Amino acid sequence: MSQRLYNFSAGPATMPLPVLERAAAAFVEYRDSGVGIAEVSHRGKEFTAVREEAEARCRSLMGVPDDYAVLFLQGGATQQFELLAMNLLKTRADYLDTGQWAAKAIEGATRYGAVRVLASSKASNYCELPDFTVDAGADYLHLCSNNTIFGTRFATFPEHPCLIADMSSEIMGRVIDVSRFGMIYAGAQKNLGPAGVVMVIIRKDLLEQVPSDIAPIFSYAKHAAADSCLNTPPTFGIAVLLETFRWLEEQGGIAAMEARNTAKAELLYQAIDGSDGYYRGTVTDTANRSHMNVTFVLPNEDLTKVFISGAAERGMVALKGYRSVGGIRASIYNAMPSEGVAALVGYMAQFKMANAAS
Ligand SMILES: Cc1ncc(COP(=O)(O)O)c(C=O)c1O
Repeated sequence: MSQRLYNFSAGPATMPLPVLERAAAAFVEYRDSGVGIAEVSHRGKEFTAVREEAEARCRSLMGVPDDYAVLFLQGGATQQFELLAMNLLKTRADYLDTGQWAAKAIEGATRYGAVRVLASSKASNYCELPDFTVDAGADYLHLCSNNTIFGTRFATFPEHPCLIADMSSEIMGRVIDVSRFGMIYAGAQKNLGPAGVVMVIIRKDLLEQVPSDIAPIFSYAKHAAADSCLNTPPTFGIAVLLETFRWLEEQGGIAAMEARNTAKAELLYQAIDGSDGYYRGTVTDTANRSHMNVTFVLPNEDLTKVFISGAAERGMVALKGYRSVGGIRASIYNAMPSEGVAALVGYMAQFKMANAAS
């Protein structure tokens, strides 16, 4: 194999090499069975074992309490923007508008009932988290825990009887207390595995409130009752998730991963903050800077282009910022090794030295 690049893509994103290798082997042949894991029935013993083990390891890694269901579904996080409102919005739901994905969740929910934007930081191009006061009377409070595009995260979470979080870009990257949430959902393609699987963790009492007249395929209650096999689930993707969960355990679990992620993010933020303004972080709310997506700008567009192409020549790819922010976005999910961040920081110092006006 040619040398692997340091891939800073925001998603689909880099995966750990052992996960890719083990998943590739299972794709060709699952445990000496003579068939690959994507070639067997989703109701057969091979895949059932994979799904059950994936759920058990997810529960153990995240400390998911027994009164929560863990679902592996299709449709991505975007489909959950609709489904969660379809299933759980009764009178009025509150939303925090902290970025493009949070805004899309709001747009999705408005199709199903009364939605209030409790607070928004849109006016400042989402460079901070807004101030807000929680209203416990809302059916639920929805937030996007890590804003992939704008580089903010909720360092701490508000209290609400039914807090719902889109954790697509930081799931299993930090320790969270699941019991503080009504529901958590995450598309897999950043921290868990390939695109095509979305993981939903939902408190079981909420399942009892799901209206019975919605189509079964859109009902969390029906998916939970069928152990995520209401129809054919994304079997291969779930098998990859299982490998990721095993790998996370080998790494010491989520607390160890969080410590590593914090160190990686600090290294990068120090390089930005210590550059005498050559690199400028786009997030002003430094207490809530993302540990997964680090966003910064260079003095101008031309230098940004040179920086990106020079990085690619050095084996560091997918660093271009999202168009509404510009500059650079370094996505440093669980699978990005510390060496990748160290290489980037080294290049940043070198680039500044070569290009800063003297
Ligand atoms: C925080 C967040 N939510 C939702 C999405 C959309 O996910 P999907 O494409 O799986 O629907 C993304 C994708 O990048 C994301 O970063």
